[in-house]
Amino acid sequence: MISTAPDAGQLMALLLKLMNAKKTIEIGVFTGYSLLLAALSLPEDGKITAIDLNRENFEIGLPIIRKAGVEHKINFIESAALPVLDQLLEVPENEGAFDFAFVDADKNNYLNYHERLLKLLRVGGIVVYDNTLWGGTVAHPDESLTPEGHRAPRLHIIELNKSLAADSRIQLSQVPVGDGITICTRLC
Ligand SMILES: C[S@@+](CC[C@H](N)C(=O)[O-])C[C@H]1O[C@@H](n2cnc3c(N)ncnc32)[C@H](O)[C@@H]1O
Repeated sequence: MISTAPDAGQLMALLLKLMNAKKTIEIGVFTGYSLLLAALSLPEDGKITAIDLNRENFEIGLPIIRKAGVEHKINFIESAALPVLDQLLEVPENEGAFDFAFVDADKNNYLNYHERLLKLLRVGGIVVYDNTLWGGTVAHPDESLTPEGHRAPRLHIIELNKSLAADSRIQLSQVPVGDGITICTRLC
């Protein structure tokens, strides 16, 4: 249920190839479905900084990643993502050094990730946010049709969508594949 949808993953894999991405960030790994797609799309010397609170789930998918021969492209960090992004930003060479980022984790932090990722991505780099339609509930006039456990994230996603739409530093496309992905490119 919580793995990235295959149609969204397929589109991201294509984007990675089209832009010749080499250095990427993934926030929210779970068992590694989207991570495997990204690793398969990067060149042999590509590198993914993959961050998740939980290593146990990553290890479920790790044998498949090994079988695919792409483990060497992955630097898995077991941690909350925000402090890792802040540590990356402490190294000046990391600013503007990443080609691509995929965010599929705690919805309440998406805007915090956005501020940091815009510094880490190069101009022309891409960040993709997952779940930006939140099951279609973002279009509901109020939360009454949204299952209770999904209400707080719905509000975070609505806030994210409004904020991204008004952000002049990026150009975006909200794509209705999977649970909705928003593809943003850094303009300046
Ligand atoms: C929807 S799943 C990711 C699915 C993954 N992209 C895939 O294709 O299988 C969300 C993941 O985000 C992780 N997560 C939640 N909050 C986090 C945080 N603050 N920092 C890093 N990872 C977090 C969870 O542990 C979970 O594995």
